[in-house]
Amino acid sequence: MGSELIYRGSETQPSSDSYSPKPVKPWASVTRTIHYLLREQRLLFVFVGIAIATLIFTVFPTSPAPYVAPHSRFTTLIPDSITYFPIETQQKFSSAHRLGFGSANPTSKIPLGLKRKGLRIVVTGGAGFVGSHLVDRLIARGDSVIVVDNFFTGRKQNVMHHFGNPNFELIRHDVVEPLLLEVDQIYHLACPASPVHYKFNPVKTIKTNVVGTLNMLGLAKRVGARFLLTSTSEVYGDPLQHPQKETYWGNVNPIGVRSCYDEGKRTAETLTMDYHRGAGVEVRIARIFNTYGPRMCIDDGRVVSNFVAQALRKEPLTVYGDGKQTRSFQYVSDLVEGLMRLMEGEHIGPFNLGNPGEFTMLELAEVVQETIDPNAKIEFRPNTEDDPHKRKPDISRAKELLGWEPMVSLRKGLPLMVSDFRQRIFGDHKEGSNTNNASSS
Ligand SMILES: NC(=O)c1ccc[n+]([C@@H]2O[C@H](COP(=O)([O-])OP(=O)(O)OC[C@H]3O[C@@H](n4cnc5c(N)ncnc54)[C@H](O)[C@@H]3O)[C@@H](O)[C@H]2O)c1
Repeated sequence: MGSELIYRGSETQPSSDSYSPKPVKPWASVTRTIHYLLREQRLLFVFVGIAIATLIFTVFPTSPAPYVAPHSRFTTLIPDSITYFPIETQQKFSSAHRLGFGSANPTSKIPLGLKRKGLRIVVTGGAGFVGSHLVDRLIARGDSVIVVDNFFTGRKQNVMHHFGNPNFELIRHDVVEPLLLEVDQIYHLACPASPVHYKFNPVKTIKTNVVGTLNMLGLAKRVGARFLLTSTSEVYGDPLQHPQKETYWGNVNPIGVRSCYDEGKRTAETLTMDYHRGAGVEVRIARIFNTYGPRMCIDDGRVVSNFVAQALRKEPLTVYGDGKQTRSFQYVSDLVEGLMRLMEGEHIGPFNLGNPGEFTMLELAEVVQETIDPNAKIEFRPNTEDDPHKRKPDISRAKELLGWEPMVSLRKGLPLMVSDFRQRIFGDHKEGSNTNNASSS
């Protein structure tokens, strides 16, 4: 090739002293180029180059969009090629996405800050008590929410007010079966929470906690979503430390009638941390203490819903044991705030989320009497197996790292729940139809 270039040079650059203009040959440069290309298979190399370039542009159609971790609330940039909705939904609402909902197009001309970019969020167990309130808050924030629920204890009525909202989807699905969805965050709540429900089919309960959590962690790993586990204060069992700090490892009976739930949640926590350490999944763990509020299942055996339903029906309030066992009662809006702060924050946890105000069962019965019926009778029954004697969260970690603490007192939250229960039990609409979160006191 070098000799070729030298030769061509001598041909096209004659010495200046023997200069005489050559006759113009109009096709000379074209024929020279063709000859040049045909010599030494240069044309073949040109075609091979074109083929390689075509291949590269086919495999990587555009330069990849900058991808910022999906959890930094205001900086989420998601490649266009990722599909988060069924095709028809995507087409229908692509204009909404361009306006800042859903995936953000990094080349969008919409000025930054006009609308916050919504996330795609799965809430398993989203048709249940806590899940449905969480869904309300996420939708109100502008996120797209997919509820995954098998309706074991959840109800469509809890989320029906979102039907028709393009940012809301409901999937009947059991989390013990795998599921693939493209999302940014997974709030994993699916699991019956009341003893009546989780003892109904203990094997199913532990499957939900173990296999269901595995499936959701697998999903988080696959799509790079952040995963939040709603664990429970039950991981402390019948605690020997009071109040309970997150560093306490608990006192749990592994073979008791509550173990399907307690040990199931403990295993779920273990799986969550193992996926974090072993597979780099971003995880959060909340340990929830007794929570009450509108949309709780009536007659689900949990003490607040039991007392409220009994007082409304003029039945005696059933107290198990001597009624001196203590519990803390958190209003649902406080819990939802805590869960969202945990998901958005930088700390894995576990975090206790509960109201440290401690009540004996008899004190709770008194508050219910004050709120609903001062003449309500109290009836004592033998205590259930493995019922913890004391439960009170130490929430200093959540206060310090999440800037969170409960705002709604029992005396303020209970009336809101009572009006919801009254409507559901008697179909009474006089007390107002607000089943939403209480404003903070
Ligand atoms: N409410 C509390 O006081 C409390 C306390 C501690 C922990 N938690 C935890 O918070 C979460 C929500 O509790 P909740 O009070 O809303 O209970 P809930 O029973 O009202 O809601 C649970 C939801 O999960 C669904 N579900 C159950 N098994 C499922 C499965 N296999 N597949 C799909 N969906 C399934 C139910 O249908 C229901 O909608 C639970 O994980 C619970 O363990 C709640």
